[in-house]
Amino acid sequence: MKKTTFLIQLIVILYAVAPFPLEALNVRGHLLKSKTYLSPAFFLHPGSVSNKFYLDVPFPRGHLALKSFDAEVVDENGVPVPLHETYLHHWVVEPYYALKNSDSTDAQKLPKMIPAGNSGVCKTTLSQYYGLGSETRHTATWVPDPYGIEIGNPEMPPEGYEEKWMINVHAIDTRGATDKLGCTECKCDLYNMTIDEFGGKLPKDYIGGLYCCYDQTQCQVREGFNGELRKLFLRYTVTWLDWSDAVVPVKIYIFDVSDTALPDGKSKPACRVEYQVEECSPENRIRNECIDVKVTKQVLPRGGDIVYGAAHQHSGGIGASLHGQDGHLLCASLPTYGTGEEAGNEAGYIVGMSTCYPKPGSVKVSDGEVLTIVSNYSSDRQHTGVMGLFYILVAEHEHPAPKPALCFSFPAPWCLPTWLTSNL
Ligand SMILES: *[C@@H]1O[C@H](CO)[C@@H](O)[C@H](O)[C@H]1NC(C)=O
Ligand SMILES: *[C@@H]1O[C@H](CO)[C@@H](O)[C@H](O)[C@H]1NC(C)=O
Repeated sequence: MKKTTFLIQLIVILYAVAPFPLEALNVRGHLLKSKTYLSPAFFLHPGSVSNKFYLDVPFPRGHLALKSFDAEVVDENGVPVPLHETYLHHWVVEPYYALKNSDSTDAQKLPKMIPAGNSGVCKTTLSQYYGLGSETRHTATWVPDPYGIEIGNPEMPPEGYEEKWMINVHAIDTRGATDKLGCTECKCDLYNMTIDEFGGKLPKDYIGGLYCCYDQTQCQVREGFNGELRKLFLRYTVTWLDWSDAVVPVKIYIFDVSDTALPDGKSKPACRVEYQVEECSPENRIRNECIDVKVTKQVLPRGGDIVYGAAHQHSGGIGASLHGQDGHLLCASLPTYGTGEEAGNEAGYIVGMSTCYPKPGSVKVSDGEVLTIVSNYSSDRQHTGVMGLFYILVAEHEHPAPKPALCFSFPAPWCLPTWLTSNL
């Protein structure tokens, strides 16, 4: 008796200390596994930008259920680097199908890789499985039990292909920058940029965003500032379970407030990813109304239960929300700003976004439902290259399996009609 009480106490204590891993350990006896990896190294000097795509990065192999993905930028001693030195604009991680034996003559005509992105809604621009930016240190990515993101299903890759993973890391070194926020917002004048990466002229009204801070560009640094070249890595920890019938698969959808195709009456989504927030008018400033509210609608291809939700915003963001077709709130995600100097608590930067974990089955969406995305920013000052993304995980409702027909083999094989047996 005493022993049981002690055991219960121990479980209660452990549960309180580490709710997530233990909860997972209890997923019908399946063991939660975790591994930490380093991306290839990238190099930054004061003011420089690195935007690299790494193919075939280390990742757990096998038929698995992803449970979480946490990442941060570290230096070569493994020490976390604060955002005011290396601003993590974004990282994204995504599977793709790579051609096996690509050297053989038969394979010459085949594409070397085939994208294998998420389930929508911006397939061409936002197809990642996971992706965050400055908020990565304090944003939960945990997929609640009994759900999991299915990967490595051997039946998924087309014949002759295998699943691999790519990571894109976009980082901006702002040591010694004349305008740190301006560099992180990719203001074109700070980068001396009038043409884009491919030599095209930038539109006149384009004053900031990704086209001005691509790989190898340089932001303005204070004269005489000296800082050494740094060798950096994205360190990421993946947590997973082996795939089993006990895990309920979830689909990944990313919504983008910059896609105004539906309200504009266009048929194809146009996810521009970034947008611009204008400084509020003097009249609004007097009335204390310096908030920029951006709203759009996008279609969710397939419904089910929302089991997780989180928004992505940049500095200046003050919250985003996702609403069902009748307007009711599905999830609101609010930023946390840092208040200090140290990595994970940098003043002026978004260091975390709140997440939604609805009680399973309590937040439902349906096939083809038109969702509303809202993204709020402070318009106290102008912001360029901001984002308003909403990431959700949806567990589809299982379609009840048709009951097997009731069959007999005597005197010859025959079955009862299913209209008769379906009510048995
Ligand atoms: C941008 O151009 C100006 C003038 O041409 C120059 O003084 C400045 O150093 C340049 N800045 C960078 C970051 O290249
Ligand atoms: C966005 O701003 C509007 C207008 O001020 C407000 O009603 C709404 O609650 C805000 N949403 C979030 C998620 O902060």
